[in-house]
Amino acid sequence: MRTKLVAGNWKMHGSLAGNLGLLQAVRDGARGQAEIAVCVPYPYLAQARAVLDGSKVAWGGQDVSEHAQGAYTGEVSGSMLADFGCRYVLVGHSERRSFYGDTDAVVAAKFAAALKVGLTPVLCVGETLAEREAGITGAVVTRQLDAVLANSGVAAFSRAVVAYEPVWAIGTGRTASPAQAQEVHALIRARFVSDSAEIAAGLQILYGGSVKPGNARELFGQADIDGGLIGGASLVAEDFLAIHVAA
Ligand code: 13P
Repeated sequence: MRTKLVAGNWKMHGSLAGNLGLLQAVRDGARGQAEIAVCVPYPYLAQARAVLDGSKVAWGGQDVSEHAQGAYTGEVSGSMLADFGCRYVLVGHSERRSFYGDTDAVVAAKFAAALKVGLTPVLCVGETLAEREAGITGAVVTRQLDAVLANSGVAAFSRAVVAYEPVWAIGTGRTASPAQAQEVHALIRARFVSDSAEIAAGLQILYGGSVKPGNARELFGQADIDGGLIGGASLVAEDFLAIHVAA
């Protein structure tokens, strides 16, 4: 049985004063069987570490530079995230891909950079509404995975997580149905089976896109859904904890 993981992605939300209660409530309320983590904006990593250190709640970043160091103004390296005790880092979130030009090649380089410093990359993949309507969901997700597999190899996925986040379900209140999500999760796992049945069997594949306390249990009950990547609901401790318990 794969251990489930519920990870929050705060995106660009928070304040030093406001985060404290949220982090403490998540730390003190985390009673589920699943693993749990929060990916916070860079300036709040020190605060996350201070509050969560020694608890069952892990923390991480939302992006990472593909470079180790150098003249890359505004970027944050994997070793800097590791310095702050991060376990996880998101790579290839659809907002990075669509607003900040993260191509498949850049995402593959960021994934490799994260692994190199011992972080667990959470590789986000997913199709837009237009791509789904054009019937190319499988092709898009496979292309996104293949770029990383070609660069890092299948064995790297023993130390990584995949998150399927259909772009049309992110922040829209429109969730993929459990059957729709399961179909793509099965396709993702099958893509790994062709390279390594063992890696495929152990791979955590999270679902993200308008996961709420009311729909989490059914989503997480699907055979190939190993937890969730939670946006909006991770900003409300009660909701995030309810989702965690559902996993
Ligand atoms: P929402 O849960 O707000 O739809 O966001 C999902 C997401 O993008 C998590 O990374």
